[in-house]
Amino acid sequence: MNQNKTLIAYVSKSGVTEENAKIISNILNSNYGFEVDLINLKENSKPDLSQYDNIIIGSGIRMARWYGKANRFLKNDFKDKKVAIFLSSGTAGVPETHQEAITKYIDNKLTKNPHVKPVLTEAFGGRYSNFDYTDPEKVKAWAIELGKKLSV
Ligand SMILES: Cc1cc2nc3c(=O)[nH]c(=O)nc-3n(C[C@H](O)[C@H](O)[C@H](O)COP(=O)(O)O)c2cc1C
Repeated sequence: MNQNKTLIAYVSKSGVTEENAKIISNILNSNYGFEVDLINLKENSKPDLSQYDNIIIGSGIRMARWYGKANRFLKNDFKDKKVAIFLSSGTAGVPETHQEAITKYIDNKLTKNPHVKPVLTEAFGGRYSNFDYTDPEKVKAWAIELGKKLSV
């Protein structure tokens, strides 16, 4: 059996989380040989998790909230699977407010969901109106670090 069958389950409204999901998928597949399925939770909100060793959850942030379907997906019992989380948020892309975004959108969320113990998390910059805080190189570097954590 492939020991690193991986699901990236995401929700994206302005497209950034989807772009980042693809970057992460490509790195895990090409650098580490993982078999990766990408699932848009808007199209399939209840994928069968039994076949996966790793679950990576991606969501954008609007009005200081995770997208609803990603939030609901987080309620799953991930049992002994390795979990990682990545978000896209406007404030996360600005150095002065990056840590605030981590606290609000990741740390507080994990406090409310103690059953989720991710091996790695990050909030990447997003895109809205005239602002573009996306950073694909940062996403690639994160995916490389994630691949190492999921390989042990
Ligand atoms: C209506 C709206 C509300 C938003 N609210 C927030 C917010 O509360 N905090 C934040 O950090 N970014 C906010 N953003 C920026 C989004 O996080 C950014 O558009 C990101 O790219 C969303 O992810 P997605 O592209 O995968 O949909 C908002 C964007 C829009 C359009």
